Amino acid sequence: MTLSETEPGSNFYWGAATAAYQIEGSPIADGAGRCIWQEFSHTPGTTYDGQTGDLACDHYHRFAEDIELMRNLGLGAYRFSIRWPRILPEGVGEPNPAGLAFYDRLLDKVLAAGLEPFVTLFHWDYPSALQRRGGWSNREAADWFGEYASVVAAALGDRVRWWTTLNEPFVVAEQGHLVGAHAPGIRNIYAAGHAIHNQLRAHAAAWTALKAANPEASVGIALHNAAVWPASESEADIAATGLAHAWHNFPLFLEPLVYGRYPPELEQRLRPYLPSGYEEDMAALCLPPDFAGINYYAGYRVRHDATKWTGFAEFKEPGAPRTTMDWIIRPEGLGFILEQAHQRYKLPNLFVTENGASFDDRRDGQAVHDPERISYLEAHVGEVLRVRKEGVPVQGYFVWSLLDNFEWALGYSKRFGIVYVDFDTQERVVKDSGYWYGDLARSGQLPVA
Ligand code: FCB
Repeated sequence: MTLSETEPGSNFYWGAATAAYQIEGSPIADGAGRCIWQEFSHTPGTTYDGQTGDLACDHYHRFAEDIELMRNLGLGAYRFSIRWPRILPEGVGEPNPAGLAFYDRLLDKVLAAGLEPFVTLFHWDYPSALQRRGGWSNREAADWFGEYASVVAAALGDRVRWWTTLNEPFVVAEQGHLVGAHAPGIRNIYAAGHAIHNQLRAHAAAWTALKAANPEASVGIALHNAAVWPASESEADIAATGLAHAWHNFPLFLEPLVYGRYPPELEQRLRPYLPSGYEEDMAALCLPPDFAGINYYAGYRVRHDATKWTGFAEFKEPGAPRTTMDWIIRPEGLGFILEQAHQRYKLPNLFVTENGASFDDRRDGQAVHDPERISYLEAHVGEVLRVRKEGVPVQGYFVWSLLDNFEWALGYSKRFGIVYVDFDTQERVVKDSGYWYGDLARSGQLPVA
């Protein structure tokens, strides 16, 4: 019996996702400039056990082997990101030919393996040179990003159709500028508000640059999402859940891009922290993306909390099944998020640009048995296929991640890959979930037990 609706050839992309800083290593090789994650992770006390992305999965040297792995599994698409300071060591100005050549080779290899490339311009490895000029808090950040997008489009645009400008700008603002757990490690609510607004403006600048280089390009943005449910039926908890949804999820960025305003339910709370005069930018931001990338991992319950500036807090649910990130497993939340994104914004395409789980994987010779990950993926993919049948235009699914990798502040302590990486030897071992996912990608059919 099958649940599927994605016959091979139906243009549904089954892919895997990665991000440059998490896998590449060699962060300053061949003339590259430093990025904020290099500086942050080298600063004592910032990451698990002081770990850095200096070597990571050594993908910088092993990309051909990693792409072969995807080909052999039978995947149809690869979502990867470009490390901005490899291309522009100072963030702007003179491009670095060796950096461009690296992505040129990588892209050709992706295409030769029959994989559709989905290229993300910014997955958190911000150029240090621009951070010293204020980074996302500086209004000029939008022009800097637009310039970078033009350089990349001129070099790779002849071979790439699907572009993602920013990955999870919410997390950049919240974890990088408010909580400070991520690079650049700032703890300032005004910096966070400016980072939200300037990332939106940067997305618009990149959108314009990519379309100028190729009007046929499909340009989108990948957004953080966690499904939220009220902790109780009280009106206060229900309203708090609406706030949590607007703040944590796609509305914070899609509302400006589709309707030229911040989510009305949130704007009053956000206004004090946005750059003054932000209202005058809103009309120019109204550029509906060709697709929204939905990143989804978990869900949680929300309760009203007047002591928080956001007006809500997580309700700690006892006993809920969790991954080793301590994230609550809620497959139905993915279907719910996709349905809601479709109802509210009616974009032509949605992609699940990230979905996956970390578990305590152990290598057993040349095998890694990860039944929990298979169950997790099966349940979430089931939701994708369910809503697709109902007419939600989800056109692809990307598992996070191809490889175990540098999980930001948590270093190598969390394993998300469908391929195990032995970080002592750099050996790759396909996990059971990798074979399972390859079968799914080849047949387009989800086996139901
Ligand atoms: C997402 C990030 C991705 C990865 C996963 C686990 O928020 O986009 O790089 O770290 O979480």
